[in-house]
Amino acid sequence: MDINEIRQEFQIFRNEPNLAYLDNAAMALKPDRVIRAIDDYYQNYGVNVHRGVYRLSYQATDKYEEARTTIANFIGAKFEEVVFTRGASSALNLVALSYGMVNINDGDEVITTELEHHSSHMPWFNVCKVKNAKLKYIPLDKDGRITVENFKTVLTNKTKVVAINYVSNVMGYITPIREIIKLAHEVGAIVTLDGAQAVPHMKVDVKELDCDFLSFSGHKMCGPTGIGVLYGKYNLLEKMEPVEFGGDMADTVKLTSQTYKLPPYKFETGTPNVAGAIGLAKACEYINEIGFDFIVERERKLRTLAVERLSQIEDVVIYNKDAETGIISFNINGVHPHDAASVFDNNNVCIRAGHHCAQLITSWLKTIGTIRASFYFYNREEDIDLFINAVKDAKDFFGKF
Ligand code: ALA
Repeated sequence: MDINEIRQEFQIFRNEPNLAYLDNAAMALKPDRVIRAIDDYYQNYGVNVHRGVYRLSYQATDKYEEARTTIANFIGAKFEEVVFTRGASSALNLVALSYGMVNINDGDEVITTELEHHSSHMPWFNVCKVKNAKLKYIPLDKDGRITVENFKTVLTNKTKVVAINYVSNVMGYITPIREIIKLAHEVGAIVTLDGAQAVPHMKVDVKELDCDFLSFSGHKMCGPTGIGVLYGKYNLLEKMEPVEFGGDMADTVKLTSQTYKLPPYKFETGTPNVAGAIGLAKACEYINEIGFDFIVERERKLRTLAVERLSQIEDVVIYNKDAETGIISFNINGVHPHDAASVFDNNNVCIRAGHHCAQLITSWLKTIGTIRASFYFYNREEDIDLFINAVKDAKDFFGKF
């Protein structure tokens, strides 16, 4: 596949062919076809769904629900197991508020890790505080990885929930999730998986994984902002109470009682993000066309090259040298990550610096933050040249002080 041809479908790269965009773990860029699909909705049938008894509303409803089918197929789920949310964060919170607040009781145990994004860990910290349950952390190994062996040391018959990432947004490690899910199920616990950094980069099939919940966002996979997905096993979604009430999710409403629609609708109140769903479905089709074989291979190649070159620069500390995905977290000795980021910006290189909404792992690394470069399939070898030059410039400039 020709990278230049791929990049031609991105307006940002047409505007700035030499932009080294290496902040893909925060946000992926959008190809024309995704923007066109959103535009088409607003321009040609941009009306509300599930409500209007007229042709345009049927058209919008069909497109919205077709989007759900496309996304369900993308992750191997059933149509009714795909709940649209504002993003991965609200999906993860929905599980904690709806499933957690009801099913976690005094003395129960929830397992999480120091490798979580705040959106994966904080909702369960809250549940455990309110419900007087115990939050346990899987000890990380010397490289900061989650291991099955260490998971076994915290798993007990009291474990009710395992809230864990599939791919860490700071370290880029892939969690050995299949074994963890299997062991969790053996003690009757459910697993809520933060898939925000996994679903855009590798084939994720919820049935094959057998996870109970999976959350991810549209904006990290070439889709729009403000749309995400909660996948849940239907038998769990069926038993869960909604956490938001109002328009569209209600079935019957009387003075003394109220009932709700079946999943996924009981979790989707108010006018949904129709454009977001349509855009995300288009992004799934686009990623399928690019293909995960290509994506995985490309990211691995770029990462290997970047790590090799970065390792040759004195005073650079790489925290995740052998990670499997396209995320590199590092620091330049004596240079604050935010200072470094401004030099990167001057060099036309976009990276993220700081704690990456994952303060537990930055503390574990005994640092105030890291510089994070994250690749996607549309990055070029030239981006690595720009990136390496920026590292050298930051080191030379701040190294003087
Ligand atoms: N969660 C996103 C990141 O890791 C925003 O950068």
